[in-house]
Amino acid sequence: MLQRPRRNRKSEVIRQMVQETHVSAANLIFPLFIVDGENQKTEVASMPGIFRYSIDNLLREIESCMKLGLHSFDLFPNIEESLKDKFATESYRDESLYLRAIRAVKKEFPEACVITDVAMDPYSSDGHDGVVENGEILNDETLEILGKMALAHARSGADIIAPSDMMDGRVGYIRNVLDDNGFTNVSIMSYSAKYASAFYGPFRDALNSAPKFGDKKTYQMNPANQREALIEANLDELEGADFLMVKPALPYLDVIKLIKDNTELPVAAYNVSGEYAMIKAAIQNGWLNEQRAITEVLTSIRRAGASAILTYHAKEVLLNKWL
Ligand code: PBG
Repeated sequence: MLQRPRRNRKSEVIRQMVQETHVSAANLIFPLFIVDGENQKTEVASMPGIFRYSIDNLLREIESCMKLGLHSFDLFPNIEESLKDKFATESYRDESLYLRAIRAVKKEFPEACVITDVAMDPYSSDGHDGVVENGEILNDETLEILGKMALAHARSGADIIAPSDMMDGRVGYIRNVLDDNGFTNVSIMSYSAKYASAFYGPFRDALNSAPKFGDKKTYQMNPANQREALIEANLDELEGADFLMVKPALPYLDVIKLIKDNTELPVAAYNVSGEYAMIKAAIQNGWLNEQRAITEVLTSIRRAGASAILTYHAKEVLLNKWL
């Protein structure tokens, strides 16, 4: 045998020398849930170790992440039912929980990278990402609201706007609104290939944002489709996106790879709430080794081609020095 691949695996030093993929703190984005009030920190039942924070506690949580070298955060608001309406007007009200949170984080931690979620669902009385009329999700009417929301985020100090709504044309629409208002430096991380997935359940529990009727299949993608992700990714690139995201991550590693191979833009992947819940449940049962399972998941998402990973594991992997 001339070739014995095992020679390159014979010691830890050699294994590390030939390791192709690494995960570091710089690749990680930590999603954080926020609620109104003071001194709140309540655990999400289906996401052990993940909490909803009031703004005061959010700042302390971000401070402890920053000390670990984790600098990027994606914020999601839990909005009181009484503030929701058909047009998500709460999403761009100047004193809303979300805009106050963005301002507070950027004021205390100007060097942190704040990513904001643009979609109507946390603020919509219908629980959908767009305007609903006679059971239908209207596309172009929704764009106007997304534009107002994105502009409010930029004015509050957002570094990166992340539209997660899957309406057609929203990246270009938001890019224009931002540019027309002088925010040419605010980036767009587009949820390009976002699938109508079963793995968002725990997130919707965290935000109490589940659709009040029907499902999201007329705007989120069919899990059976791969080529269609290229249509979405190409459009977002043409419309001015700075990052292309695939979501969920683990069941869609092929899509991450496909998009990576077809763009020069950085690709992001969202290791979503249901993926987190699945791993944690197995660990709680003693069925998986925590450190090994989590680092394998993150490494695999990087290996598929993601530069950035949005993951609820971000803090624990750094706290435990697992990387
Ligand atoms: C809302 C949004 C969702 C997630 C991120 N933004 C849920 C949905 O589309 O219903 C899910 C994230 C997760 O599950 O961790 N537009």
